[in-house]
Amino acid sequence: GNKGLQVAIDGPASAGKSTVAKKIAKRFQYIYCDTGAMYRTVTLKAMQQGVALDDPAALADMLKHTEITFKPGDPEQLVFLDGTDVTAAIRQEDVTNNVSTTAAQGTVRTDLTNRQREIADAGGIVMDGRDIGTTVLPDAQVKIFLVASVEERAQRRFKDNAEKGIHTPIDVLREEIEIRDHKDSTRKISPLTQAADAVKLDTTSLSIDDVVDKISAIIEQNVEKSN
Ligand code: CDP
Ligand code: CDP
Repeated sequence: GNKGLQVAIDGPASAGKSTVAKKIAKRFQYIYCDTGAMYRTVTLKAMQQGVALDDPAALADMLKHTEITFKPGDPEQLVFLDGTDVTAAIRQEDVTNNVSTTAAQGTVRTDLTNRQREIADAGGIVMDGRDIGTTVLPDAQVKIFLVASVEERAQRRFKDNAEKGIHTPIDVLREEIEIRDHKDSTRKISPLTQAADAVKLDTTSLSIDDVVDKISAIIEQNVEKSN
């Protein structure tokens, strides 16, 4: 049919998931859902309210009256928490370094997974995260597992930071990435792992356009199949 496919893009930190997912969504006119932004937003709110990031019951309580919404924006989609724009706040280093703790709590994962599936119900969707192909959208027609060397990923983050006037040394960034990947890969519930039917793409020496073209070709093959 012409309803649009489900495209799941998973992988470790700074592999290029969100950059590539946004461009693919634009090309195919699909909805884009940044699930990492949702985990970041929950972490920010808990930190603001003094809710322990490892207390699943308290987090579940907080989530009962928490609204997370996306709005179109240029150059990036805006994220709202209970009506307040938190697009910049959720990218702060303290949120980045705490998010894996919140994301390991089962109550949080269940709640956000339900919200993500609701967003996907609308039709063609590109969703990026850690457990999209394995847990959130196990029937997605296209599953991509993006990877890149940790050196390359630390360099990408260093460049992104420099543009924002942040100058954390590259060794520190590299270590932060390794710690977060380790936590995300070893948690009990929906850890970061490649789905059996996902296509692995190493982006270490690929440009953004190369990656977008490769994934687009896979989507086009599957669109033909579904027609
Ligand atoms: O953009 P970056 O690679 O820094 O990470 P992100 O996609 O914004 O995700 C931030 C964190 O949220 C990850 O390190 C995971 O701890 C968590 N996350 C998750 O557990 N499951 C997802 N589907 C997406 C993110
Ligand atoms: O979402 P995720 O954390 O996986 O990565 P990202 O925030 O989309 O990408 C991190 C940085 O890598 C961005 O500045 C991209 O421009 C850059 N980059 C990329 O995404 N893909 C490449 N093939 C090369 C660079």
